[in-house]
Amino acid sequence: MPLVKMSQLLTTIQDNSYAVGSFNVSNMEMAMGAVQAAEELKAPLILQIAEGRLRYSPLELLGPVMMAAARRSKVPTAVHLDHGLTNETIELALKLGFTSVMFDGSKYPLEENIRRTKEIKHMAEAYGADLEAEIGRVGGAEGDYKSVDVLITSVDEARYFAEETGVSALAIAIGTAHGNYKEQPKLRIDRLREIAAAVTCPLVLHGGTGLTEQDFKNCLQNGIKKINIATASYDSVAREIKAMATDKPAAGYFDFSDAAVRGAYASVKKHMLIFGLKDKA
Ligand code: 13P
Repeated sequence: MPLVKMSQLLTTIQDNSYAVGSFNVSNMEMAMGAVQAAEELKAPLILQIAEGRLRYSPLELLGPVMMAAARRSKVPTAVHLDHGLTNETIELALKLGFTSVMFDGSKYPLEENIRRTKEIKHMAEAYGADLEAEIGRVGGAEGDYKSVDVLITSVDEARYFAEETGVSALAIAIGTAHGNYKEQPKLRIDRLREIAAAVTCPLVLHGGTGLTEQDFKNCLQNGIKKINIATASYDSVAREIKAMATDKPAAGYFDFSDAAVRGAYASVKKHMLIFGLKDKA
């Protein structure tokens, strides 16, 4: 089954009973672990990599691995560029066949974010791909960038932005931040509800790592359709590798390779179950 577009996965969610997990991967082992979890649960999957992580995994190398993992997956799998910041990287992802890209113009004033997002939308459309954009500002940093403070998305701006740009998915800020939380965040579910009533395109939650099961449920029940998980999977892989090094001093390369697959698998499976994705493929 195969490679699908993100919009196919998000627009078919009829009620607010589940949200699709979008999982960051940085190598073949993580992609394998994510697909293994999705196949076992018969769940749809989005594989993604953020521009801020490409220093470790060049897109020319990792992109084809992600595409191949999606093409041979037994469940519908989309391949997405997370937090695209430059036209060059976004165009490269599109050339590699990614079925969607995100343009993150959240650091720009509203009108400039809209102008740049529209420009990228034309580019994505030429490749038949979907576009996700961001309005307001999710806190923290995804990858090698300076951490930023949360700026809660305004309802009017979200409505205006979605209407002007016609994006396929809209990332909003309701109190989450990328990375591990120092203090448990208080999510603005009231604001999410208002935005969901005002905007027709699927809404995206970034900064999923560290939220409680109840937080996730509140988000998907009130209109979030895509949830991004990165740090939890990277931490899970690191934990498995450290445990292998401690528990099996004679461990060799392939033991660590298996540990990396297991780490990604465990994180993806755990989150998919919380997001209500079992048997949704
Ligand atoms: P976390 O690293 O907090 O899981 O955030 C993931 C994310 O939003 C990727 O864009």
